[in-house]
Amino acid sequence: MKLNVSKFVWFDGKLVTLERAKVPITTHAIHYGTSIFEGIRGYWNGKNLNIFRLDDHVKRFRRSGQFYSISLNYTDEQISNAMKSLCKKNKMRQSCYIRPFYFVGQYGINLHVTEDAPVHAAMFMFPFGDLFNKNGISAGISSWRKFSDQSTPPLAKMGGNYLNSILATQECKRNGYDEAIMLDLHGNISEAPGENIFMVKNNVLTTPPLSSSALDGITRDSVVRLAEDLNYTVKEEEITRGQIYTADEVFLTGTAAEIIPITQVDKKRIGTGKAGKITKEITSSYLDIVMDRNHNHADWITPVY
Ligand SMILES: Cc1ncc(COP(=O)(O)O)c(C=O)c1O
Repeated sequence: MKLNVSKFVWFDGKLVTLERAKVPITTHAIHYGTSIFEGIRGYWNGKNLNIFRLDDHVKRFRRSGQFYSISLNYTDEQISNAMKSLCKKNKMRQSCYIRPFYFVGQYGINLHVTEDAPVHAAMFMFPFGDLFNKNGISAGISSWRKFSDQSTPPLAKMGGNYLNSILATQECKRNGYDEAIMLDLHGNISEAPGENIFMVKNNVLTTPPLSSSALDGITRDSVVRLAEDLNYTVKEEEITRGQIYTADEVFLTGTAAEIIPITQVDKKRIGTGKAGKITKEITSSYLDIVMDRNHNHADWITPVY
């Protein structure tokens, strides 16, 4: 995927051009994956650019580093303001994706990462449309299991964690699927490489609990709340592979992916083989919120201009 990264980026507190934001080859994060990142969407509705759930992303951003004693040396307000300034500096007037991250800089080959390790923070952005086909995609269950809290915490959005996602994605593409679904170490459904998963059966929505090694996705939380607004029952419960095969609807949620129907798993048709009714209803509620047409969750969007 070729990104059209916007001209200005934010690096250690300053807005600079992309070319000027460089790191040395001795950077610890390149060697050991000691980086923390977020992915955040901004939605342009013709009048304003609305950043979706900015505060929640910033909170998770800081929390992820705490697992490893890697500190974000900026306040929540500074990070939020930096994101808004970055959008303005780039005169962004289309829907976009913002990628803030922080990482351990020059710290030798030392694995004893402490609060004293040098940490740099940066963010860049680019215009962004759909990641997947919104009408529905195919998925294959990966033979790579999602790592568990017994090895590294899945709740930390760390660069190094995504090696597991890369293996699952490579396997699913090799097998001709659009996306992978990963099982946890017990064989229950966990999540996709970069998205949470939901299934619908008899009008009840179920998503795996965080104990199934799923990330505490912000879109996942939004979908739970939107489904409840629509008076659906939502459960956080372990899901077996067989339950996914026999679900009425399956969909993924994530910042980059948004809400994506899965219409086939392991070449078996899910429900009617088309995006399901409840998936469509929730997608429509989500779009109304992010486009600022429905003010029920007005605190979920932060206008830039
Ligand atoms: C592993 C993983 N699971 C789930 C998600 C979805 O989380 P969110 O909705 O907060 O983007 C992401 C993306 O951030 C992810 O990387």
